[in-house]
Amino acid sequence: MEVIISPDTETASGAAARVVARLVREKPNAVLGLATGSTPLKLYRKLIQLHNEEELDFSEVTTFNLDEYVGLEKEHPQSYHAFMWEHLFSQINIKPENVHIPDGMAKDIPVFCAAYERAIAEAGGIDLQVLGIGSDGHIGFNEPTSSFASRTRIKTLTQQTVQDNARFFDGDESQVPHHCITMGIGTIMDAKRCIMLAFGEEKAEAIAATVEGPVASMVPASILQHHPNAKVFIDNPAAAGLKLSDYYRWVYDGKPDWQRDA
Ligand code: F6R
Repeated sequence: MEVIISPDTETASGAAARVVARLVREKPNAVLGLATGSTPLKLYRKLIQLHNEEELDFSEVTTFNLDEYVGLEKEHPQSYHAFMWEHLFSQINIKPENVHIPDGMAKDIPVFCAAYERAIAEAGGIDLQVLGIGSDGHIGFNEPTSSFASRTRIKTLTQQTVQDNARFFDGDESQVPHHCITMGIGTIMDAKRCIMLAFGEEKAEAIAATVEGPVASMVPASILQHHPNAKVFIDNPAAAGLKLSDYYRWVYDGKPDWQRDA
């Protein structure tokens, strides 16, 4: 795992955006796996900026989102559909038919999840998966003890995640759905590359456990230690628990630009 520690979220998001942009330039029909939540917002803003100012072209790009709440209509302001269209898709030239987000209103959830997995495979697999991390170490909505072999399926959120996400629902925990559809850890691990972003001291413990702790289903993100191409973009507060932070800085500072964006 490569750890890139930046002084602030702006710099970290810019570095992550350059990795995504380089892939899209090299492979215009790239398949991107995308995340929601507060963490990737600046990354998406940078991608919009690159689209507007440097003609970064998304016309052939296909996307698959990690997850969606069960029971929220696409039009619900807190649905991940609404989030993605508001914060990214409406501001780039992506084709709506190339966007895939789990359907939280699917009548037959297992059938829907199997079809989602098939669609990813038919698109050629995910070239680059963007990830955030929960304070409990979840990726997608794969909560602690999720199987490392899991595929897209329904999951129940932990109480911690419900509490964490209440901020998107006017602070009202009772409004946060308890179930979601999420790509599995096996689905995420099949992506050719993963980039994880994590900001703020509330993520420091999860990041330390992910990067330097034992690989364990209690910290789902720790499976990324087994991924052959995973980069973790964090700010100083999120790096606070890392024992080898000086080493990660030294490695990154010693890289030529072309290798940083690769
Ligand atoms: C969202 C997702 C989640 C979030 C995580 C962190 O699609 O997959 O794993 O990345 O809950 O959320 P924020 O960024 O809001 O702290």
